[in-house]
Amino acid sequence: MNLTLFVWRQKTGNDKGKLCRYEAKDISPDMSFMEMLDVVNEDLTKKGEEPIAFDHDCREGICGTCSQVINGTAHGPEVATTVCQLHMRHFRDGDAIYVEPWRSRAFPVLKDLVVDRSAFDRIIQAGGYVSVSTGGVPDANSTPVPKEDADDAMDAAECIGCGACVAACPNGSAMLFVSAKLSHLSSLPQGKVESLRRVRCMVEAMDGEGFGSCSNHYECQAVCPKGIHVKNIARMNREYLKSLFKSAK
Ligand code: SF4
Ligand code: FES
Repeated sequence: MNLTLFVWRQKTGNDKGKLCRYEAKDISPDMSFMEMLDVVNEDLTKKGEEPIAFDHDCREGICGTCSQVINGTAHGPEVATTVCQLHMRHFRDGDAIYVEPWRSRAFPVLKDLVVDRSAFDRIIQAGGYVSVSTGGVPDANSTPVPKEDADDAMDAAECIGCGACVAACPNGSAMLFVSAKLSHLSSLPQGKVESLRRVRCMVEAMDGEGFGSCSNHYECQAVCPKGIHVKNIARMNREYLKSLFKSAK
């Protein structure tokens, strides 16, 4: 396949960026989108030009590092698929493809397609954990967990922290990400104990980082590569209200 790419190039966060045109030649339909970019980068390097900077790590759809808006959609055209799992067979020979970074105020561009997502780390640091007393390992059967609760926790725990939900939301809201992290912990008895403190801390950290609020566009759920459901946002809002009432008493 031969493709024309228009890729966002930006030297640093302070520079003005622009879309640059590249030709991707002899691309196998079995290549992933990132392997196609590797080929383009190899050509650029051979020509003495600077390769396109983009984030990637596992390339297996599990780490959440890859982050590109492809033809206007975060993670590209395939449903429930990360960029690293997107294959070139989903494009046609001769296609023009636009590749841009996540666009959101809370995720400033560092270089080309790489953005700073450390705001997510700070939200997790504010409460995305279960405080565990040290000591012997408790017996696995000593804390029974209803099957539905375990399923809810596992579904929410699928969030890989990629930030596509933020990039797709017209408000730049991080509520799908934060609510997935909260549900994953507070659905289980081990995490329920400190759930009200946790929701207060994480929501406040989220607001402090400059993310917007949810106004029910559902774009987050549409682009989420892990199918995280917006019902987690409703659950987070309920928990947050509970935490406000509790502190008002
Ligand atoms: S909720 Fe989905 S889109 Fe948002 S960070 Fe988690 S995996 Fe990525
Ligand atoms: S590189 Fe790890 S999810 Fe894409």
